[in-house]
Amino acid sequence: MLHALHLLFLSDLLQPVPPCVSLRESVQVYKEHCRMAKEFHQVKNEIAVLEDRKRKLLAEMVEDEKVALEIARLEEEFRRLTEENRTLVTVHKERAKQLERLCGNNRTRQDSS
Ligand SMILES: *[C@@H]1O[C@H](CO)[C@@H](O)[C@H](O)[C@H]1NC(C)=O
Ligand SMILES: *[C@@H]1O[C@H](CO)[C@@H](O)[C@H](O)[C@H]1NC(C)=O
Repeated sequence: MLHALHLLFLSDLLQPVPPCVSLRESVQVYKEHCRMAKEFHQVKNEIAVLEDRKRKLLAEMVEDEKVALEIARLEEEFRRLTEENRTLVTVHKERAKQLERLCGNNRTRQDSS
């Protein structure tokens, strides 16, 4: 049969009913049915291709989101370390002042630093 390949992919419910060869109209309906079966098969293939493309795009989006999250995490880490550095520098300055006071309130040295 000419359209057998396309009909293979159809469920029994969608299989065209074989025509009564004697009836012209019946053959016509059968041909139309086969044409639609072929179309149905092509659309099914196109949907499968689109779904595959969609799956890949979604995977890429997830990857982009991971990169964005990593950048945000690094920026947060940088802020935290900068703040920590600021605190350490402040504490260091305070300790230096404290030390100078303890070593005899040497104002001249403190002002020049
Ligand atoms: C730490 O803080 C000091 C004072 O704000 C700054 O001069 C220094 O560049 C900072 N260090 C780093 C690694 O950011
Ligand atoms: C304290 O300051 C004086 C000058 O006022 C300087 O001669 C001396 O070396 C300083 N001492 C210290 C411990 O820095």
